[in-house]
Amino acid sequence: MARLQFFENLKNIGVAVTYDDVRLKSGHSKVEPASVILESKFSRNIPLKIPIVSAAMDTVTEHKLAIGMAKLGGLGIIHKNLSAEEQAKEVAKVKFHLHGLIDKPICVYEDETIENIQKRIDEKGWKFHSFPVINRSGKLAGILTKNDFDFCDDDSQEAKDVMTEQVLTKEPDTPLEDAYDFMKKNKKKILPLVNDDLEVVGLYVFSDLARIIKGKSSMHNVDKKGRLLVGAAIGVGVPNILRAEMLIKKQVDVLVIDTAHGDSKAVLDTLMQIKKRFKIDVVAGNISEPDSALRLVEAGADGIKVGQGAGSICTTRIIAGIGCPQVSAIYNCASGIGVPVCADGGLRNSGDIPIAIGAGAHSVMMGGMLSGTEESPGEMIFLEGRQWKRYRGMGSLGAMRAHKESRARYRVTSKKMVPEGVEGMVPYKGRLADVIFQYLGGLRSGMGYVGAANIEELREKADFHRITHAGFVESHPHDIHITEASNYTPRE
Ligand code: IMP
Repeated sequence: MARLQFFENLKNIGVAVTYDDVRLKSGHSKVEPASVILESKFSRNIPLKIPIVSAAMDTVTEHKLAIGMAKLGGLGIIHKNLSAEEQAKEVAKVKFHLHGLIDKPICVYEDETIENIQKRIDEKGWKFHSFPVINRSGKLAGILTKNDFDFCDDDSQEAKDVMTEQVLTKEPDTPLEDAYDFMKKNKKKILPLVNDDLEVVGLYVFSDLARIIKGKSSMHNVDKKGRLLVGAAIGVGVPNILRAEMLIKKQVDVLVIDTAHGDSKAVLDTLMQIKKRFKIDVVAGNISEPDSALRLVEAGADGIKVGQGAGSICTTRIIAGIGCPQVSAIYNCASGIGVPVCADGGLRNSGDIPIAIGAGAHSVMMGGMLSGTEESPGEMIFLEGRQWKRYRGMGSLGAMRAHKESRARYRVTSKKMVPEGVEGMVPYKGRLADVIFQYLGGLRSGMGYVGAANIEELREKADFHRITHAGFVESHPHDIHITEASNYTPRE
C-alpha cells in the first residue's frame, strides 16, 4: 500500500491533513480514463456502480435526488427530518419508481360493488383502475380494468358481474423481460402472477414495464428485483428501532445510523439491537478516530462513515473544538477495518474524490456538491441576477427547530440550542446527471494519472505529496480573471 509510509510519517510527527493539504502522485499509466471501472461498495452488501452517495440532509436527499442518484449508479440516503411515516413514503417512492413487480398488488373482492370500489379509489387517491379480483377464499377470479369501470352504467353491480373472467397469468418468478414480451404479444395491460393455489402473489403493469425496458440503463444501481437501491438515515434509541422497522417494511436497502458522534453508547446499542432484530446492512457514523471505527465494526456495522467537522455547512470543529482533518481521518479509520468506508463531507471539487478513495475510502458522501441541483429539495431563489437553492446543516438552527431528529443528532435536549451548522444558499447547479458527469470525469482523470484501472487499484496504488501554501496557490488557477469555470469551485 503506497500511501502507508506517507501517513505513518505524518502520524509520527503528529500532523493530520485534509484535501487541500495533499495531491496524488501521478505515476506511469496504461489506464485510459474512459475505460476505468468505478464500481465499489457502500457497505458489505450494498453495491455502487459509481462511488458517490448523497448526504442524508433535508436540503439534499429526498426521493427525487435518491432516484437520480441510483439511476446514475450511486445511492441516496433519505434524511430523517421527517416523521417515520413520511420517511418511509420517501423510500417507497424510490423503490417503486421502477417497480417492475408489484409485490402486494391491491385486489378487490368479487362481491364488492363497483360503487364501493370506486369509493376506495377516490379515498386512497389511486391513479389506476386495474385490479385482480379475488373470491373470499383469496383465489383469483378475474380482473377489472378501466374499460369495465367506463362501460358500467349500474354501479350497484358487483365486480364479478362486470369483470373479465378469462385471465392470463404467469408463475411467481417470471422475470420482467419475459412478462413484458408476453403482455405485448397478448395485448394485456396487467399480468397477475399466481401460485399453485391460485393466490395472487405479484402483478406486472405494462406501462411500468415499457417505461423500465425503454429507459433501462446498465448504470442503474438496482436490487435483485430491478428496483432502485435506496438508503435511509435513522437516529438512536427505541423510536428509531421502530423507524427502522417501518423503513424495512418499505424495502429500504440500507440503514445509516446518522449521528454527529458515532462512537457513543447510544449508537453502539442501537446498532447492536438493529443487527439482532433485522437482516439489513447498517452503516454507522460519524467518526474520525480508528478506535471508534473498530468499536463500530465489533458492534456489527456493515460500513462506517468517516467525517467529523469536515462538512461545508459544519461548525463542529469551531464550536466544539473537536475533529480530525478529513484525509487523515479516512486513512486512520479505513486501515484494516474490513468493511467499506464512506468519506463523508468536506469535498469541494471532483479532484477530492480520488484523494478520498486514495486515502482508503470506498465511497464519498456529498452534501454541498449535490445541493443546489434540480433534483435537490426546495424552491429556486432568484437573487442578484442569479439562481440559488437553500442548503443548511442538519445541526443548523433552522434544521434543529424543524425536527427533533436534527436536535438528537447533536444531542441537544434543551430548548435553547447550540447549533453546530450554518444555513445558507448555494448557486443553482442544474441537472444532477450533468453535475455527476463532471465529478466522475474528474475521478476518471485522477485514476488515469495514478494508473488505477478500478477503485480497488486506486486504494492500493495511491500515494500523496504533502503540499505547502505555495503549492496550494499554484494548484488553483492564478493570475487570471476567470470568466468560465463550470466545473471548478474556487476558494473564497
Ligand atoms: P458537505 O458535503 O461538505 O457539504 O458535508 C456534508 C456532510 O456534513 C453530511 O453528510 C453530514 O455528515 C455533515 N453535516 C450535515 N449537517 C451538519 C451540521 O449541521 N453540522 C456538522 N456536520 C453536518
